[in-house]
Amino acid sequence: MTTQQISMDSVVVGRSARMRAVFEFLRVIGNSDSTVLIIGESGTGKEVTATLIHQNSRRRHHPFVAVSCALFSETLIESELFGHERGAFTGAIKDRPGRFELAEGGTIFLDDIDDVPLSMQVKLLRVLQNRTIERLGGTRTIPVNVRVIAGSKRDLKQMVSEGKFREDLYYRLNVLPLTLPPLRERREDVPVLMDHFLARYFKRRNEDVPAVSEAVKQAFMRYSWPGNVRELENACERIAQTCSCGTVRIGCMSASILFRAGAQPAEVAPPSVPASDTTAPISLDDRLREVEANLIGWALKVSGGNKSRAAELLQIKRSTLGDRINRCGLGASLEKPETQAAAAVQTA
Ligand SMILES: Nc1ncnc2c1ncn2[C@@H]1O[C@H](COP(=O)(O)OP(=O)(O)OP(=O)(O)O)[C@@H](O)[C@H]1O
Ligand SMILES: [Mg+2]
Repeated sequence: MTTQQISMDSVVVGRSARMRAVFEFLRVIGNSDSTVLIIGESGTGKEVTATLIHQNSRRRHHPFVAVSCALFSETLIESELFGHERGAFTGAIKDRPGRFELAEGGTIFLDDIDDVPLSMQVKLLRVLQNRTIERLGGTRTIPVNVRVIAGSKRDLKQMVSEGKFREDLYYRLNVLPLTLPPLRERREDVPVLMDHFLARYFKRRNEDVPAVSEAVKQAFMRYSWPGNVRELENACERIAQTCSCGTVRIGCMSASILFRAGAQPAEVAPPSVPASDTTAPISLDDRLREVEANLIGWALKVSGGNKSRAAELLQIKRSTLGDRINRCGLGASLEKPETQAAAAVQTA
């Protein structure tokens, strides 16, 4: 089995042994109503997996409410989750239900549970134990019938041993634990994810899905994907936006991914020539800039970030290289290639 699909939006793709174990977990927990704790790095698919669990459950006709606990300050998170009554604090001009109430009958996905402050953890524990909430500034105790799925990018057990996470809450959450492996530990999934996302984004543009050159496939396999599936998805979306040459070639890829994937000049150099039966217009300037960025990325990679050496490799003056680096937006990738190139990809 390589795909678990309930609706267009919640598709989890994978063929690695690690992902097959995830699919087996999803099958086994089936109709269970127990709390699930999903641990995985950013972009590994915690939310999409939580959606899938909800859609596979008997609660599927009720709401699925996702909330990232990292987005709210210590004071706001309580009102966000449990709601408030009018006048509870300055600005509380009317009664407002919280996310638990909005999820009644369904599932709440508490993402980034590792960011919940200790003071709030004790309140969450009470809700999980009593299955009731009290709105901020309210006096009523409101029963809630909600299945809880929690997401964390950090190892909560470790946080417990460091005194950063309550042990009692950890055991309440860790009823059905699921770990989503990072993409670098399941590279067999890269080609299927690539096919999946290219198909999605080219179809959204009402275009046929083009063939993908071997060099692009290899660069995707070599790259370490620190931003996991989300980063790969963004890379595919970008290709669908920029590639109109009938075949996805290396020139259609983001320079910073190529830079870190260590593309060779032979792969980088040939400009992507449109197929003869393609009539879509292409921008010569854009295409030349891509080729230039890719070659500069290659030279900087090979020279270990040494600009003088990179300029020599490209047979241009060092000052010219500096200008061109800025022109093609590679500047941010250069200070610390390992981390900043990744940031450049994510914001591309
Ligand atoms: N195995 C997968 N198959 C298909 N799409 C996936 C898969 N894993 C993740 N995605 C897609 O990647 C993107 C990121 O996934 P998601 O938001 O679920 O990650 P996350 O772990 O919750 O990230 P964060 O920690 O940053 O909140 C989404 O668009 C999701 O649909
Ligand atoms: Mg998430």
